[in-house]
Amino acid sequence: MNVTQSFDLDAWSQHYLTEIEACLDKWIPGSAPANLTEPMRYAVLGGGKRLRSLLVMGAFESGINDRKSEEIEWRREAALRVATAIELIHAYSLVHDDMPCMDNDVMRRGKPTVHVKFGEAVALLTGDTLQALAFEVLTPDNSQIPETLQAKLCALIARAAGHNGMAGGQAIDLSSVGVSLDEHQLSQMHKLKTGALLEASVIAGAICAGVKQEDLEQLKIFGSSLGLAFQVIDDVLDVTADSTVLGKTSGKDAQSGKPTYVSLMGLDAAKHKADVLIIQANQALLSSDLSQSDALAAIALKVVNRKY
Ligand code: IPE
Ligand code: IPE
Ligand code: MG
Ligand code: MG
Ligand code: MG
Repeated sequence: MNVTQSFDLDAWSQHYLTEIEACLDKWIPGSAPANLTEPMRYAVLGGGKRLRSLLVMGAFESGINDRKSEEIEWRREAALRVATAIELIHAYSLVHDDMPCMDNDVMRRGKPTVHVKFGEAVALLTGDTLQALAFEVLTPDNSQIPETLQAKLCALIARAAGHNGMAGGQAIDLSSVGVSLDEHQLSQMHKLKTGALLEASVIAGAICAGVKQEDLEQLKIFGSSLGLAFQVIDDVLDVTADSTVLGKTSGKDAQSGKPTYVSLMGLDAAKHKADVLIIQANQALLSSDLSQSDALAAIALKVVNRKY
């Protein structure tokens, strides 16, 4: 039996999920003008797998054991802030992704989407505020987290969210409706719209732990392979899973004419592609000197074996 099979991912995740939910609850304001608090909290709390934040903490754990004890506390705070910030940006991306001008979806995380419940203008502003809040969370006043680290994390996450990352990928997605992309074009779109934020979660968590450059290079390969695999499986689940299990309306990609890994190569080949990517991801971990990568390896396996 290898290490990954004996690793209890559920127990490990539970511990961090409790902390991450508490951070999200604490850092989303209890009062915002014109009751904007309600849609902000609705969009973020009470749902979601929290994969990105778990990747942050898994990457953090992979390197933190090698640090001096007096650094651990502020490094840990930095990682929790990153985990929270990336969930906020992810939640913003979902709110906008679901709007009528984008994917026009009515269900998310088993509930009515934000624009259905609160209206389109409020959904737009909710996304805007969540993105801005992410950067506030990354730059606390009176913190022991060095300002150079705060700035580095902001830059990394901004790049992953922006025109060369998630938002850029979403632009390709919108301009590709009804277009048949080849595998290179499709993988570029998926790497940007979904992979960039997942890769940034891994790298940012590792930077909080002070992981050395050579290991960051391996984690980059891990994060980019896992990021692409994640969206390939999202494409697969859109075809194979039930809406009630998914918490969002299945069958939407084909209905909307979106190019996906399933439309490109069929279900079996798409699943196989994701499996190969996860093998590559975990090979990168094995090629590193990281002392504690069991959680990351287990999360990677979960990405391809998930049911929603
Ligand atoms: C859905 O992401 C959007 C994609 C990038 C495919 P998740 O499947 O991680 O959504 P939640 O956070 O668990 O709801
Ligand atoms: C969304 O991709 C990627 C984002 C940046 C939000 P999808 O449009 O496939 O995500 P779902 O299927 O609606 O969750
Ligand atoms: Mg979309
Ligand atoms: Mg969508
Ligand atoms: Mg999808």
